[in-house]
Formats: sequence, C-alpha cells, structure tokens
Amino acid sequence: MCGIVGYVGSQDSLGVLLGGLKRQEYRGYDSAGVAVLSNEGELVMAKKAGKLQMLMDNLTAHPLASGHTGIGHTRWATHGAPIDVNAHPHLADDGRLALIHNGIVENFYEIKAELTARGHEFVSETDTEVAAVLLADNYAETGDLRTAFARTVNRLEGAFTLLAMHANEPHLIVAARHNSPLVIGFGDGENFLGSDVAAFVEFTHRAAAVGQNQIVAITPDSVSVTTFAGEPVVPEEFDIEWDASASEKGGWPSFMAKEISENPDAVANTIRGRIHDGMVVVPEIDAFGPDFLSGVSRIILLACGTASYAGLVGSYAIEKWAGIPVDVQLSHEFRYRDPVITPSTLVISISQSGETMDTLMAVRYASERGAKTISICNTQGATIPRESDAVVYTHAGPEVAVASTKAFVAQITALYLIGLHIARVRDTVPEALLQHSAQELSDLPAKLAEVLSVGDEIRTLAKWMSDSQAVLFLGRNVGFPIALEGALKLKELAYIHAEGFAAGELKHGPIALIDHGQPVFVIVPSPRNSAEMHSKVISNIQEIRARGARVIAIAEAGDAAVLPFADEVIRIPLAGPLFEPILAVVPLQIFAMELADAKGLDVDQPRNLAKSVTVE
Ligand code: AGP
Repeated sequence: MCGIVGYVGSQDSLGVLLGGLKRQEYRGYDSAGVAVLSNEGELVMAKKAGKLQMLMDNLTAHPLASGHTGIGHTRWATHGAPIDVNAHPHLADDGRLALIHNGIVENFYEIKAELTARGHEFVSETDTEVAAVLLADNYAETGDLRTAFARTVNRLEGAFTLLAMHANEPHLIVAARHNSPLVIGFGDGENFLGSDVAAFVEFTHRAAAVGQNQIVAITPDSVSVTTFAGEPVVPEEFDIEWDASASEKGGWPSFMAKEISENPDAVANTIRGRIHDGMVVVPEIDAFGPDFLSGVSRIILLACGTASYAGLVGSYAIEKWAGIPVDVQLSHEFRYRDPVITPSTLVISISQSGETMDTLMAVRYASERGAKTISICNTQGATIPRESDAVVYTHAGPEVAVASTKAFVAQITALYLIGLHIARVRDTVPEALLQHSAQELSDLPAKLAEVLSVGDEIRTLAKWMSDSQAVLFLGRNVGFPIALEGALKLKELAYIHAEGFAAGELKHGPIALIDHGQPVFVIVPSPRNSAEMHSKVISNIQEIRARGARVIAIAEAGDAAVLPFADEVIRIPLAGPLFEPILAVVPLQIFAMELADAKGLDVDQPRNLAKSVTVE
C-alpha cells in the first residue's frame, strides 16, 4: 500500500528517490511519481501510471532538472483510478507546492466543497489533491510551510502519511503521520523519510519511527519532531538490522524463491537468544511479570490472512503447553463481534508488516478494554508493536515478496516460544517436555533445509498441473491451518481457485467437489505421533481416490501407509506433532511459486495484492 520516500541533502535527489521507491515496490502499487526542487529553484515533477519502470522510461525521455530535495511515491489506488493524473505527487500553489500521501482522507468531500466554493479547481479525482490545495491555501495565509502544514493536518481526518515541500523553502520537507506508517532516516548532512526503512537503508542504518499524530520537518542538517499541537518530541532512534542487499534478490530468480530458501534462517534467527540451558526464555514478555502471566485466563490471537493461519497453528501449541484457552480471531471481524475482554485477557497480534490497519484497529480496541497486548512482528519500529505492551520480533529479515513465506514459519516459531515461556512461568509442563520442545525448535532449521531439497520434484509436479482450474488441500489438527495456507498461497500466486479443508469435514460436503483428476494435496500426520489421526487421514485419501482424485501427499519420511493410495508423495523429515506443520508448509510454498512461474506470472507482486494492507 503506497511507498513513500523523501530526501534532503547533497546527493542528486532523483537517484535517492527512485532507489527508495524500487526497494519499496513490494508494498504493492499501480502508479509512481517524483518531485524535485531544482537547483534553479523550480519545482519539477514526473508521474506515470503503471510500474516504476514506466516512470523511469519517462524520465529517460524527459529528464528532470537535478536538485537536492525531493519526494517520491508509489500509489495503490483508493480514490480515483490508477491513471497518470491521479498519481502522486499532486501540485498546488501554481505548481510551487508538491504533496504525496499514503492512506485515505475521510473528510475530503467537505474540504473539497469548501475549496471549490473559494474558486479552486481540481484536475484529479483524488483526496490527496484536495489536501494539497488546502495546504496551499494555508500557505498563502501563513507564508510558512511548517505552520501551514500543521494547520492542514489538524483539519484532515482518516488515515494519512503526508510529505510536502515548497519551492520557496528549497531545503525543507515536512511530513505527518496519522494512522499510517512513517519513518525517519538520519544521515550525515542529509536526512530521509520513508514508509519503511527500505526507503533509505542503502544510505543509513540510523532510523526512528514517527509516532501517531506527529509532524516531522527535515533539512540537510536537522530533524525536528512535534505533536500535531506543536509540542516537541524526541524521536526514539533504532539501528536497522539488515542492509540494502538483504532487500535485493541476491542472485535468486525472484524474492519469493530467495525468501523460501531463507525459511531455515528465519526460524534460526527468531529462536536466537531465546533458548538458555535448554529452556525457552522470552525476556520481552517478562516485562509483564510472573503475576500477570499466571493470571491470564484467555488468549486471543489477532491477525489477517497468512498471519492468521500461523495463529491457528500456534493456538494448538499454546493451549496445550500453557493450559489456557486460545482462540484465533480475524482482526477485521474482531471488534464487530463485541468480544468479551477482561484484564486477564492476553491479546497477541501477529503481523509481518506491523502496519495492517485491520490488526492495528483490533489491537487498539482490545487495549482500550483492558487487555494486555503482545505484538509478534517482523518490522522494527512498525505501528502495531509501538502500540502494544510488548513486542516479540521475528527476525526473518525483510520479506519483499507480497505473498508471505519465511515470515509465516517465523510467526509460528514466535508463538511456540511464547507458549513455552508461559508454560515455564506457569509451571504447566514438566521440565523434560519443555526441554524436548526447545530442542525440537532448535532442530527445525536443519530440517527445513532438508525439505528445501524437494524443489525439483515439485517443479515437475507444478508443470504437470499448470492448467489446473482448482486445487483442494486437506489437513487435520495442526495440519488443517497448513491446508488453508497452502490454498491461500496458490490463490495469491497462481490466480486459480484453491480451498483448504479440515480432512474430517470432507464427508460433510466438500467431497462433492471430487471429480476425476481433481488434484488434492493431503497433509498426512505422522503415524508415530498419532496412529489414530494418521489412519483417519489415510481413509480420507482412500475416499477421494475412489472418486477419481489425484492425491499429492505430504508425508514424513518412511511412512509407507500412504504409498498405495497417493499418486505423488512429497517427503518431509520426522518431527514432533506440533512441529510437522512448519515443515509441511514449505513444499506448498514451493508448489505455488512453481505453478505461478509455469504460468508466467509475477511471483513477487501478484495482481491486486499489496504487501501491507494499511487501509481497512
Ligand atoms: C500473505 O501471503 C498475504 N499476502 C496476506 O494474507 C498477509 O498475511 C496479511 O495481509 C497480513 O499481513 P501482515 O502479516 O503484514 O499483518
């Protein structure tokens, strides 16, 4: 959802802007634009619908004058079609002011009516242009960009990250944050702004998040932050852990392929520092103190999409280990169901980006009603962690491909760490089991690396299935969320209908879908861990084979029972019952990617999707 970058300093700003937008492409967009204050004091701009390359081609054909102050934007259309005129930046004040915006201005109609009544005309359909013209009006009255900007943002409602600059004040960019992400990059004689740190990580690792309802003004040698009311704020700096190369492909054919290959490291890095003497310790939630954790009567996991499926997997483990009822709520449904929340409710949100508006609003709702909140997040300084009582960061590194893979396994890992930590504090699990489970976590990276070797086998399978019109996924117990995630990956990447079912649900309706040649993936539980569940799933396979299904079984090494009934068997290493799902999902990630690739689709930026859904 929109990428933003701002630069003031001594470099040629256009190069900084385009590089920053390139590294934020994964946020999802449908047009791009830049504006520069030229060394001759002019404000020059270029913007195009389509991918960033369209803008770059346009700039090659029609170069902009160079300058050292500039703003850049990739737009994911909300108000107004993705056409050139609706792209950002939007100009006002006779082309001397430029504004870019991420979010939705909810009161733009009334403001537009007021401005129209004052004689203003508009060239676009966007709420952003209305904000630009309002800023120009305020600038005309105040003659000072900072003052005019503060007056403007105090009038707007909705969700917005805004960046603005004026030709009269050439070494200044002002910006504001309200329900939408904004981070600062601190340089030496230069400063940066971005939707996330990918905007400027090439130039500085020093960053700070701008808080809710805060305004920041950057010049080459200064960064000043205030509240919307004008009170000074000291930004909390943090060091960016990864570097620009981490957000590049590193020789892989796609970010998706690179990030699937990073599944082992994502788990290893999330575990790192959280297992001591064979026991899990998550210091970030010690902040609550043992009294709180021992008093928790209910845990609610909040998330959307893939993150919610990680929550479903984690819910089995946490309930089993901590002995606390756990339920998973889709963030966008949560607050409309009038949930029962008490001070003994622990809400754990799960979000790779930490900016998903649905999840942010749900966390706020729970906090306002007295729940303690923990955020599981993969993006430092993101909004959801900053609005939670505690944060357990996954350390999967930047996940650039829109469809989530390594962050998913890292999210499950973080949930397991929290579950084992709570079990230890509440003394609900024998120490031997805690240590065994910690060891299972530690063994996962090597097992994940082993699973990655099935890539060639799955590529062949995907090529054979490239004309499939629908694919079904079956799983039982912790395998059920993996069936859901496998289906989502295929929908997102290959644009074909896919559906995940609890295997036990088959006979209650879905079996009617089985026709000759219908491909069905079945996640088969280990016979070592549960002979009963294993035999039930084998029966499910027989039932669908008898009706013509083509069965691809994901089964542990050595499980011979599947051989007579499955058309294909993809093997995963042996693991404990709660750890199998983390291994079983990887072949499904690879399959979705390979099938999309076989169809010639963009596996990193699937159509219609955004990496971070920052609007409700
Ligand atoms: C992931 O494959 C999906 N693109 C999507 O479901 C995603 O998991 C969901 O939007 C939540 O995003 P978050 O983890 O950044 O909150």
